[in-house]
Amino acid sequence: MNVEMTVNGKKVKADTPPSLLLSDFLRENLNLTGTHVGCDTSQCGACVVHIDGVSMKSCTLLAIGVDGKSVTTIEGLAKTVDADLHPMQLAFHHNHGLQCGFCTPGMIMSAVDFAKQTPNPTEDDVRHWLEGNICRCTGYQNIVAAVLAGAAAMQTQAGG
Ligand code: FES
Ligand code: FES
Repeated sequence: MNVEMTVNGKKVKADTPPSLLLSDFLRENLNLTGTHVGCDTSQCGACVVHIDGVSMKSCTLLAIGVDGKSVTTIEGLAKTVDADLHPMQLAFHHNHGLQCGFCTPGMIMSAVDFAKQTPNPTEDDVRHWLEGNICRCTGYQNIVAAVLAGAAAMQTQAGG
């Protein structure tokens, strides 16, 4: 089936099987391997991308299901703020919010959506939101610190 969408600001057209998952489409058709796939139970959150600005698990969507929509992956995130790195990416870097990095793209994509929806989050808010993102390496403390710092930086950038 023909599908057309905007991925990281570029129009993409493809002829895909109707059952192709968006996560596979991004990774295999477009070579956007920053979107990770870490489970087959829709639970790990490694595959989170933005669809029309909202964070979603790309392994739970069909490629044809996002026809006509705008998809942002971790590779395109910085472009959304016209910088080398998005403030949330910088916050993960500065707060050592990762070890192996497998969960990190999904964590960051989720965190950006969270920060937009929750301008002055508490630690509890962050922990609650990130229940859908699993990290097998860290104790989450640095991730939570990174999300709080990233949210604050986004707020400053937005002039809030
Ligand atoms: Fe999508 Fe695990 S790969 S939730
Ligand atoms: Fe390794 Fe999170 S840093 S899974």
